[in-house]
Parts: sequence; structure tokens; C-alpha cells
Amino acid sequence: MTAPLVDSFGRVHRALRLSVTDRCNLRCRYCMPAEGLDWLSSDDVLSDDELVELVNVLAASGVAELRLTGGEPLVRPRLAELVARLRRVPGIEEISMTTNGVLLADQLRGLVEAGLDRVNVSIDSLDPDRFGAITRRRDLDRALAGLEACERYDHLRPIKVNAVALRGVSEPDVLPLAELARQKPYVVRFIEVMPLDAPREWTHGLVLSGEELREMIAERWPLVPQERDRPSAPGTTWRFADGEGEMQFVSSVTEPFCAACDRLRLTADGQLRTCLFAEWETDLRTPLRDGASPDRLRAIAGDAVGRKGRGHGMHDPAWRYSGRPMSQIGG
Ligand code: 5AD
Ligand code: SF4
Repeated sequence: MTAPLVDSFGRVHRALRLSVTDRCNLRCRYCMPAEGLDWLSSDDVLSDDELVELVNVLAASGVAELRLTGGEPLVRPRLAELVARLRRVPGIEEISMTTNGVLLADQLRGLVEAGLDRVNVSIDSLDPDRFGAITRRRDLDRALAGLEACERYDHLRPIKVNAVALRGVSEPDVLPLAELARQKPYVVRFIEVMPLDAPREWTHGLVLSGEELREMIAERWPLVPQERDRPSAPGTTWRFADGEGEMQFVSSVTEPFCAACDRLRLTADGQLRTCLFAEWETDLRTPLRDGASPDRLRAIAGDAVGRKGRGHGMHDPAWRYSGRPMSQIGG
């Protein structure tokens, strides 16, 4: 292995989130406007060959875990072929995917055969009307079918369900989602809403905190905190005291976990980001298309990691984020 990707705070980067498309078949209110965004053109988006080449470069510097994100990764054509190629990159130990699940039932088998190791399905509400109001599409049944399809493959477990919580909207969803975690082999994770929506409507007031959510759940079903899976895991894990399953809370706003962050992000148009909230990106696509050598690309990436900031500044009420929205970065 060549030099690992270590930043100036000593954080070693092992995880890469690959946004394989900026497009999506849903329009979640905390992410996209109803009319969608100006999508990248197909020339802008990295091809399979280009993605595989960049992953080779980063894997040679210690990146071992890939997560496919979007937009919605399943709207990228022939995703399973890409997974099969990425799975063969030396050094890559695990490939996971975050999806809204709508297209998953049809594609899961091909993806598993290609080597997909783990899946997170985003479902914010189990109520068809509220799901429709949040996502602006009436696709709850398809998302649930995608989630259920994951149960057919033992090695995909633990299957994770991501639910973004919004104050004034999500309260009626909290206990039904906790119950889902108790009844099904799913780890349900509540995610605090972050200021990454394209319409820029986020306020601190919208954040239903992990602590508040835990209180709401524990009143009905007591919870017991668990050790973090790994120091770099973004979520804290809590088991139901009666042993019936577990929940996670990804409290990026109220309990930031930047200190142990080992993640990098590559946007669909080939820009390396060292943080979700970074307001700068490092262009890997241009040097790649100009024929830069693997060593040169590695040096560019290493330089970007060296400039990674300590963390985000969300606790400061005056903090504003002006970078790209979530769907163009990859969650
Ligand atoms: N805040 C928190 N989570 C978000 N996601 C999308 N936008 C936001 C936001 N503004 C979530 C999705 C998905 C993951 C990719 O990120 O619901 O679970
Ligand atoms: Fe699509 Fe995910 Fe954004 Fe919802 S949050 S619109 S599913 S990219």
C-alpha cells in the first residue's frame, strides 16, 4: 500500500462514499425541490471505467469500504455491473449502498450476485400519506417491498432503515418505526435533519434531536446504550431493554462525530470532498481525463485530505452552509 490518507488531525481515511448519480426518483422535502434540480449531463458524470480507476487509486492508499449513494444510486444504468467491477478492486473489503428502496426489489438479486454486502433503505414514515407528503411520491409500498427483499439474503444483515426526523412532521412516525425495529430484522436509525436541502429551508428548529427521539421511544420501550460499533461509526446504538432489536441515532447536529471521521466522498462528477459540509471540492475528473498517472491522482487526493477541516460549525447559530446540496454530494 502507498501512503495512507491521513489528515492533519491524524484521522486515517478508510471509507469512501461514491455518489453514482445526482438524479433521484423521489423529491424529499429536506433534500430537493418539487421540480428537481438541474441534473448533470451524462458527459459530466464519471463513467464506470473512470469510477473504477479512481477507486483503484484510493484503495491503494487504504480506502477499504465503499458506499454507493446518489441521488438515488439505483437510477444509474447497469449499477450491478459497476458493483461487480468495484468488488474486484484490490483492497476493497466491503460495498454497501444507501437507497430509497423504490427500485430495489427488481435489482437486488443482480446486485447481491455482483457482490453487494450491505444495504441501508431510507424510509421516513410507514404511513402512506405522510411518506407521500415527505417524498412527494406515493411509493411507500415499493420502498417497503425493496426493504423486505433484503431479508432473503442473510449476509446483508444487519439491514438498516434510515429515517430522517423532522420536528412537527415525524412525531407520529417515531413509535411505528421503533416497532418496526422490534418486529423485523432491521436496525432503524433516526437521522437528524441537516442543512443540506437544495431549497435552503433548514433551520435549527426543524431538528428533532436524537435525545428527544430516544426519550419518546424509551417511554414506551426502555433502551440500553451500546458501545459504538467502531469509533468512526456515525450512529450510537441502543438495544431495547427486553432484547427485541436495536435502534441507532445519527445525531450529526446535536452530537457531532467529526473527531473520528474516516470518510471521503466522491461526487458523481468526480469531485473529491473531505466533508459533507466542506465548501470546497477537489477536482479529480479533469486530471483523470487529462491522463494523470495513478501517483499524480493519489497526490492530489492526499493533498485534499491534508486540508480537511476539524469539523463542521453547526453549533454556532451564525453558521451557514453554502456548498452543494445532499443529492449532489451523496449522503
Ligand atoms: N439531512 C439529513 N439526512 C438527509 N438525507 C438526505 N437529505 C438529508 C438532510 N438534509 C438522508 C437521506 C438518506 C441519506 C442518503 O441521507 O434520507 O437516508
Ligand atoms: Fe432522493 Fe434521497 Fe434526496 Fe429523497 S433524500 S430526494 S431519496 S436523494
